[in-house]
Amino acid sequence: DDDLDAAARAILTGNDRGGYTIPTAGLYPFQWNWDSAFAAWGFSTFDPDRAWTELETLFSGQWGTGMVPHIIFHRDDEGYFPGPDVWRTGTTPPSSGISQPPVAAILARMIHARAGGTERLRALYPRLLAWHRWWRDWRCVEGVACVTHPWESGRDNCPDWDPGMANVDGSQVGPYQRRDTGHVDASMRPGKEDYDRYLAMVQFGRACGWDQATILKDGPFLMADPAITFILIRANRDLAAIAGELGEDPAEPLAWAAELEDGLPGIWNDDLQAYCARDMQTGTFARSISSGAALGLLAGIENRAMEEKLGAIWDRVRYGIPSNDPASDSFDPRRYWRGPTWPVVNALIAVGLNSAGRTAEEHRLREETAALIRQGGFFEYFDPIDGTACGGDRFTWTAAIWLAWAS
Ligand code: DGY
Repeated sequence: DDDLDAAARAILTGNDRGGYTIPTAGLYPFQWNWDSAFAAWGFSTFDPDRAWTELETLFSGQWGTGMVPHIIFHRDDEGYFPGPDVWRTGTTPPSSGISQPPVAAILARMIHARAGGTERLRALYPRLLAWHRWWRDWRCVEGVACVTHPWESGRDNCPDWDPGMANVDGSQVGPYQRRDTGHVDASMRPGKEDYDRYLAMVQFGRACGWDQATILKDGPFLMADPAITFILIRANRDLAAIAGELGEDPAEPLAWAAELEDGLPGIWNDDLQAYCARDMQTGTFARSISSGAALGLLAGIENRAMEEKLGAIWDRVRYGIPSNDPASDSFDPRRYWRGPTWPVVNALIAVGLNSAGRTAEEHRLREETAALIRQGGFFEYFDPIDGTACGGDRFTWTAAIWLAWAS
């Protein structure tokens, strides 16, 4: 694995654009939020200073509201759509108008434990706190964490979002030119009807000047996200632990974690016996179990019924936790978040397994994920049944989790 370690480091340094790391050249040419936090985790294995810089650059894009955008457009790139002229957020640096899963505090804590850097963490702490407060104020509805756009979930075309997407009108978006399908095979990307709706949601946000009260009240899409709910519970607890180490008061993040835990019955789907995405506008649950549910252990949530379901889903594939249940009619093993397994999500699930003391399962997940990378390279995601490498190559977060967890 020494060669793979070197290759992974070369991907991180090769995707470094000077203080921030792009997810992969071509397909994703800017700084993405959760990708960047994972990049920092990878850097922490060989260059702690660069790891902290990555997080600092990410938070340099933080809005006055506390929101940390999902994309920061540090420089122009014609190869991506929708770029800053479409989002028109009016911010400096230019950015998108939505956020992404708040994994930064979880990873910052692990980076600190691995590599030190207390003063860097201290400087970041108020920014992390402000971001978590933004989640609490603008994305937690009835005690669960919601997304206002599938891109905000980071799991773009997951069947989790089908109920909300069905009610978004994408017919009026006008002509546009996609760029993603020029970089990778169209059969591995979201379809055109999805894209029309993604743009309709961007156009709504832009039209109201990214006013969050309007987006929550009248926006085209609002769904509870089990993955972000679990991530945010864990992230708030980790932020409280960080506060403790820094001599700050942990009360606020602890209270936010407790509120979210109290809200969990709101995303329990009795029919599926699992935590599920839910459309907050209609009350409708998603119709299949996604890998989002597998992040429960990350939040310390143990649930026998759901774990049996998840165990059965895992046994239906050969490699890793699939992003969608293979038994569901919406399963598509190579189409982005509708079935493939994602090394980065497996790594996050493994952090949860590790915290729960489930070392045999963590070991299995690591072996299966490592096998994919050894056979196929550092791709964005993989077919969980036959292991085919999919999406973008030389992918930052796959290289990062190799270094920090899988190798
Ligand atoms: C894309 O453009 O596909 C991204 O996933 C949006 O974040």
